[in-house]
Amino acid sequence: MGTTAVVVPGSFDPITFGHLDLVERAASHFPRVVVAVLDNPSKSALFTVEERKALIAASVAKLPHVEVDSFEGLLADFCVQRGIGVIARGMRTGRDFEHELRLAQMNRRMRRLETAFFASSSEHSHVSSSLVKETARRHGPLATMVPPHVASALASKYS
Ligand code: PNS
Repeated sequence: MGTTAVVVPGSFDPITFGHLDLVERAASHFPRVVVAVLDNPSKSALFTVEERKALIAASVAKLPHVEVDSFEGLLADFCVQRGIGVIARGMRTGRDFEHELRLAQMNRRMRRLETAFFASSSEHSHVSSSLVKETARRHGPLATMVPPHVASALASKYS
């Protein structure tokens, strides 16, 4: 197990089983995991930052060493402030690769932060928050993509 804390950053609008798989796997390799929601007022989100944090907290309640937080500004600065040395990101398909590579290189150059990529589990590689919202908006089935409390929160938003 590594000795540094790891951050699992993202928009989490809302958290999915893909994110949760990543958080659980990161928690088995690092002594402390911080799930960090980007607070980006310029980007319109379905859930507020507080709602997103609450949905994440309910999803990770049984996992030890996992905290939920939010950040504004640069992820690299948040990591330095919190003593976090590694960023964990999921890699679903080749489409994620180029963008993720640039982010990782940028974060390493700015603050010497390493990024650990976790290959997404095959059953979750198609899952994204945008697809989840599109499905929810059309009242489609969500059970394979998000936990029940997230499905309920989506149902109330689109009721
Ligand atoms: O869930 P997402 O939208 O794929 O997450 C992307 C996220 C939040 C990890 C990324 O956009 C990010 O770190 N944003 C914060 C600003 C920042 O540090 N950008 C990278 C260097 S310019």
